[in-house]
Amino acid sequence: MNLEHGCTVWFTGLSGAGKSTVANLIESKLRARGLRVEVLDGDVIRTHLSKGLGFSKADRDTNIRRIGWVCEVLSRNGVVAIAAAISPYHEIRDEVRGKVGRFVEVYMECSIPVLADRDVKGLYKKALAGEIKNFTGVDDPYEPPLNPEVVCHTDGRETPEQSAAKVIGKLEELGYIPAA
Ligand code: ADX
Repeated sequence: MNLEHGCTVWFTGLSGAGKSTVANLIESKLRARGLRVEVLDGDVIRTHLSKGLGFSKADRDTNIRRIGWVCEVLSRNGVVAIAAAISPYHEIRDEVRGKVGRFVEVYMECSIPVLADRDVKGLYKKALAGEIKNFTGVDDPYEPPLNPEVVCHTDGRETPEQSAAKVIGKLEELGYIPAA
């Protein structure tokens, strides 16, 4: 185990699918093991690093490339970087994967009806009513990963604890973090 190498855990999935919740849970569990961890949350990144970017394909791609670059830098300095952004496009996720190397893609899978029903931020109601345009999964594309390392079913079939355990188990299996 070479602890000089970190890795990147890349969450992808629709708004409200649980990316931030599970990312933050993993962060606290890995910190408790003495690992260096940093969460890059889409909503937070958009308040500084990506402030001013919107939701066109070009702006989303720029956002993801920026987050990817920070993950790359953190990973090569021994940090477990955890990205939690919708990251709707295959191509850019794969581009980041190619640059980072030790990259674990986690697909947070949840159906639109369940997300619209939960509607934690009240955004699906607005998007479905046409008040927000280009909302991912409603009137803007989301391309699910074809070969993610982990799939979490966040529609109620599994708890955030179970999802976090799956991801941590995969990191151990791949030798990216020491086994507990
Ligand atoms: S990404 O597409 O560039 O990866 P990111 O994860 O940073 O998106 O931001 C998504 C968050 O922005 C959503 O959780 C939601 O709170 C908010 N948001 C506002 N407008 C949109 C939109 N049109 N599509 C998706 N999310 C939006």
